Amino acid sequence: MAGTNPYIRTAAPRCPAQKYAITFLPSNERVEVDPAKIPYDRTGLPGSILDIALGHGVDLDHACGGVCACSTCHVIVRQGLASCRETTDDGLDQLDKAPGLEATSRLGCQCIPDGTRDLVVEIPNWNRNLVHEAPH
Ligand code: FES
Repeated sequence: MAGTNPYIRTAAPRCPAQKYAITFLPSNERVEVDPAKIPYDRTGLPGSILDIALGHGVDLDHACGGVCACSTCHVIVRQGLASCRETTDDGLDQLDKAPGLEATSRLGCQCIPDGTRDLVVEIPNWNRNLVHEAPH
């Protein structure tokens, strides 16, 4: 599922102008983000951590489809938070429902780095979906 929540108005995010990298923990998987390829997966806001993760095969739950209506895409930004846009009030409301909140917690589907620095992003233990269906 992709799209936007029609009940939430947000300012247009700053999209990155240069390439940067995100390292996902605990797997330590480093992905290169190319602004020319955004959106990667069309889930969550274009250029969001969720969009980038899914576009690179990094599992990150997203029960509402990336429209800021759940908290399953909760991530903790360990480095590079200054390059991410501020969380909206609606995002904060959803984030409040996530377990294990920290000061640098963000919704992966709403958090858009501007590309001015590399990020280190932790996917909380409870949020790692270790069950995969076999291909049909
Ligand atoms: S996927 Fe539901 S709020 Fe991000």
